[in-house]
Amino acid sequence: MDGNRRWANTRGKLRIVGHKAGLDAARRAVNFAINYKLDALTLYAFSSENWKRPSGEIKSLMQLFSHALNKEIHTLHKNNIKLRIIGDINKFTVELQKNIKNSEQLTAKNNGLTLNIAANYGGRWDIIQGVKQLATQVQKGMLNPNQINEDTLCKCVCMNELAPVDLVIRTGGEYRISNFLLWQIAYAELFFTDVLWPDFNDMIFKNALNTFTKRERRFGSNASA
Ligand code: IPE
Ligand code: MG
Repeated sequence: MDGNRRWANTRGKLRIVGHKAGLDAARRAVNFAINYKLDALTLYAFSSENWKRPSGEIKSLMQLFSHALNKEIHTLHKNNIKLRIIGDINKFTVELQKNIKNSEQLTAKNNGLTLNIAANYGGRWDIIQGVKQLATQVQKGMLNPNQINEDTLCKCVCMNELAPVDLVIRTGGEYRISNFLLWQIAYAELFFTDVLWPDFNDMIFKNALNTFTKRERRFGSNASA
């Protein structure tokens, strides 16, 4: 979800106005995902690198996140959504951590859309925390290093309960991954658009899905999948 500040800039508005418009776009995307019966939607809300931003902006982003969580959680629950926050949440205030855990617990048994919010998330962090889990198992004598393979690490990275990611959509006209789900997107299709995230709408989402369905996915083989 990229382009919130540029969106605000072009309107002569404060950054936070762009982030709030970004939240509206996220709400639209979730509704779209429900209507299209997608299994999972993962939104990259705050990266492990976003701490480099001005402290005022970080503070207002955290407030917006807390506020949105409190405000939306009951609607998400009513819509049968399973909410998961992926990322290193230890860096957040104790209150926000508690809110996150309560929200996840409340919606844990829902079986509609799985909505993952990546917050203080980095793809490299994800792989490292998975490797640490494996190292601990080795240390305890529960795992032989020779047994470490793709499957064992797969079980330790975020979203391991879900199917591999099919499609990554990046808005805001940048053509890079920026430390998003690195392990999980090994064979994902990529869709880039210049549209700034606050302008993201059903039409662009649909266009991304249509493009996706036309791609030939071979997963390394010659024959189409
Ligand atoms: C994405 O929009 C939102 C967050 C990273 C929180 P940006 O804030 O990166 O907006 P631009 O890319 O500077 O316009
Ligand atoms: Mg950006």
